[in-house]
Amino acid sequence: MTTFADLGLPRPIISVLAKQGITSPFPIQEAAIPDALAGKDILGRGPTGSGKTFTFGLPMISRLASSGASKPGRPRGLVLAPTRELAIQIQERLDEPANAMGLRVLSVVGGVNINNHIRKLARPVDILVATPGRAQDLVNQRKLSLADVSLTALDEADQMADMGFLPQVKKLLDLTPNDGQRLLFSATLDGDVNKLVNRFMHDPITHSTAPVQAAVDTMKHYLFFVGERDDRNKVVTRIGARDGKTIMFMRTKHGVDRQAKKLRRAGIPAMGLHGDKGQNTRTTTLQGFADGSVSVLVATDIAARGIDVHDVSLVVHVDPPAEHKAYLHRAGRTARAGEAGTVVTLVMDAQRDEVDKLIAKAGVDAQSIDLTNDASPAHNRTLAAITGAQAPTGVALPEPGQQQQKKSSKPKAAKPRSGGGRGGASRGGSSRGGATLSGKRGNTPRGKGSKAGGGASSSNKPSRSNNSRRRSW
Ligand SMILES: Nc1ncnc2c1ncn2[C@@H]1O[C@H](COP(=O)(O)OP(=O)(O)OP(=O)(O)O)[C@@H](O)[C@H]1O
Ligand SMILES: [Mg+2]
Repeated sequence: MTTFADLGLPRPIISVLAKQGITSPFPIQEAAIPDALAGKDILGRGPTGSGKTFTFGLPMISRLASSGASKPGRPRGLVLAPTRELAIQIQERLDEPANAMGLRVLSVVGGVNINNHIRKLARPVDILVATPGRAQDLVNQRKLSLADVSLTALDEADQMADMGFLPQVKKLLDLTPNDGQRLLFSATLDGDVNKLVNRFMHDPITHSTAPVQAAVDTMKHYLFFVGERDDRNKVVTRIGARDGKTIMFMRTKHGVDRQAKKLRRAGIPAMGLHGDKGQNTRTTTLQGFADGSVSVLVATDIAARGIDVHDVSLVVHVDPPAEHKAYLHRAGRTARAGEAGTVVTLVMDAQRDEVDKLIAKAGVDAQSIDLTNDASPAHNRTLAAITGAQAPTGVALPEPGQQQQKKSSKPKAAKPRSGGGRGGASRGGSSRGGATLSGKRGNTPRGKGSKAGGGASSSNKPSRSNNSRRRSW
């Protein structure tokens, strides 16, 4: 069996992985890490949850550790990611292995007071993980130079190549030396990415470890035919009351707010996540979801890509996604790293054609379940058997807005869900506790500890340049 040492990674990194219970490489890691260590440009595609972060991150750390020192404001490694939550998560995942090699990683994202970033950049930072808007702001203020960047990774590269991001990403990459190494990764590397490949990559090697479509074989897909909207809403509430972590995806921010409110009114500890929420709320919501105090995360596609929260056992497309790639990324928030997971798409009568096409394009083998005329006990039994759905307590929890907004800028833990929970603490099922505010995983062995998805931010100052304004999420 291949080991991380066989791939050429240095011993301190391997020790860090071992402490996290990570002992043998996943296929994309086995395929791409040696080439990345050899300095090649790489286009890497592996299914959701297959370990791409370490695939680009660990070789970056290793190469930078053996090639000199960074100067203040001049990182030598750059990682760009589409959302703040993902950028923070990447920084958290790379922190420990980087520290073990004597390197410093910093994330800079919108929604956090830029002065914090400026202050931190005044010391040498080796790897900068950024959302494009904030990186550009720092460049504009002359607090950040990308002229020393010898390695750049684009996570969710196909999304970074789409219309919303492409101009900004090109501009940033143009500031890095032309002969630098580039690593582009995603679960769905499609044609869009060529716009970046042609301009910025040199003889890239493509590593693709499974067919693009439906590549996670521990994931089960279902289409639930739910009739009209009222019927659908009843199904959503029963599903929300299940034990275990659930992510529900909605198309709009308004839809997220409404759905989270409805679930809380039914006694379910749900929280909403979308781009119009303050960064502190976004962070505490994701932390609450990671530590189990929030059992249902209701989100726009802001949470569709890259977010790695342990033990999410069910993803529900309450609104069908806009396109097949979004289906795959949303679905991929469950069944990660070899674990099992279930994905349900709720299909109202008027949506049947649209969803049929979407599922065909995603290449997913989904089982159809007819739940029209929902109230029958047989339907509820079917629903329960697949999702663990049950009747909610009906004891309303306070609205998230009342708890979370208008608070000071200090991050606080999500409210415990003792309020209306059936028997309180056991609700939400898979709470593991132990998620830290910084989101660090510490030395907890894999599968035994927490995996916070978000990191603390110290200010709620909105960012003007962030892409969320232009995006629907
Ligand atoms: N070799 C490994 N063995 C066990 N677990 C691993 C290994 N490599 C990574 N992991 C874990 O697998 C999980 C998923 O990894 P990661 O987030 O990098 O997936 P990804 O491929 O980037 O997924 P996505 O496409 O959704 O972004 C993480 O919790 C990570 O710690
Ligand atoms: Mg990823």
